[in-house]
Amino acid sequence: MMNPTLQALPPLDRDVLGKLFGKSLLLTTDWTTAELEALLAVAARLQARDHGRGGVPADNALIPNELAYAVFFDNSTRTKSAWAGAASRLGMSPVIVDGSSTQVSHGETAVETGAMLGMNAHAMGIRHDLILGEGNAFMRDVKKGIDDYLGATDKAQKVPVVNLQCDIDHPTQTLADLAWLREHFGDVDAIRGKKIGVSWAYSPSYAKPLSVPQGLITLLTRFGADVTLAHPEGYQLMDSCVGAAGKQATESGGSFRVVGDMDQAFEGAAAVYPKSWGPYDLMLERVAANRAADKDALGDIERRALERNAKHTDWICDERRMGLTEGGDALYMHCLPADIGDEVTPGVMAKHTVNVAREANWKVYVIMAMLAVGKVEGLADRLG
Ligand code: CP
Repeated sequence: MMNPTLQALPPLDRDVLGKLFGKSLLLTTDWTTAELEALLAVAARLQARDHGRGGVPADNALIPNELAYAVFFDNSTRTKSAWAGAASRLGMSPVIVDGSSTQVSHGETAVETGAMLGMNAHAMGIRHDLILGEGNAFMRDVKKGIDDYLGATDKAQKVPVVNLQCDIDHPTQTLADLAWLREHFGDVDAIRGKKIGVSWAYSPSYAKPLSVPQGLITLLTRFGADVTLAHPEGYQLMDSCVGAAGKQATESGGSFRVVGDMDQAFEGAAAVYPKSWGPYDLMLERVAANRAADKDALGDIERRALERNAKHTDWICDERRMGLTEGGDALYMHCLPADIGDEVTPGVMAKHTVNVAREANWKVYVIMAMLAVGKVEGLADRLG
C-alpha cells in the first residue's frame, strides 16, 4: 500500500512524464501546462521523500554515477547550491564552473562548448542572465552542440539542459515560487483568482536582470492568478513576455494588467513580489558594450542605471504598503538576495524571513525534479 504521505500529494501523470524524458527546460513557455504540473508533482514528491515525512525514506539516489555540470556567467548563492544539492541527492556528481574561466571568454562558441561539455556531462545547467537577447540564445546553442554531437555519435545518453537564469526567464526560481505559493495557500489550485502583485522596487546595488519578473508574469498567469505588474516609466519588460502574460491570463480565466504605481500592485493582494530590475534602454545598451568587451562603457551604463534607480527610492515594500494588502497580511515573496532597507524595510523582511527561506528551499526540489524527469525512465514507478 502506498504511504499516506505520498498519497496526499498530486498524482504522477505517467503519460506526460514519459514525454519529459530527455527534455530540456529553457523557458517555462516552451512547456505545456500539463508538463509543468507533472514536473511540480514530481518536485512535491521528492520534497516529501527528502524531508522523510510520514516515515518516507529520504533516499532519492535515482541517477547514480552521472555528472551534473553547470556553468555560471554571473554570481549565485542559492541556485549554485540548489544545483549541487539536487544533483548530490539524486546520486549525481555536481560540478559548477565559473563561465569566465571557460574558453567562451576566448571566443569559443556556444555550439562548440555544448559539444565539448555534453560528451562528458549527463545534464547541463547554465546561468547567462546579464545581457538581453543573449542568454537564452546561448543556452539553445549549447543544446544544439550537445544534440548534434550525441546524434552524430549515436550515443543513447540524454543530456537535458536546465536554464538556471537567462535574460528572459528564471524557470527554476519561478517554479519554486509557484510551489511555495501552493504550499503556503494549501492547494495546488490555490493561486486561481488570487491577486498577486509583482512590482519593481528600488535597489542601489546593481542593475538586476529582468528575468525574474518576466518569468513570474509568464508563469503565474497560466494558473488563473490575477497578476498586477507595477513599475516606473522606463522599466518595462520585454514585449514578448508582457504579451504572453496577457494572452495566458485570458486563456486561464485570470487577469493581467500593468500599472505605474506600486500601491496598486499591493491593494488587496494575497501575495506581493517586490524586487528591482534595470532600466530597459540601458539593459539594451549593455549588449553592444559587452560584445566589444568595453569595460569602461559597461561601467558607465551601470552608473547611469543606478542614477536612474535613485529617482525612485520611494518604491519600497514597507509596512504602509503591506497594510494595503488583503487583510493587511499578504505573503511577502522575493527570489533573494533582497536589498534590505531599499527594496524592503527591515521590519517586513524580519516578519517573512522564514517564508522567503521556505520559498528558496523549493528550488532544490524543482531542479531535482527537472533532472529526474529528464534522466529517469519509468520515473512514476520509481517514485511510488
Ligand atoms: N534567487 C537566485 O537565483 O539566487 P542566486 O542568484 O543566489 O542564485
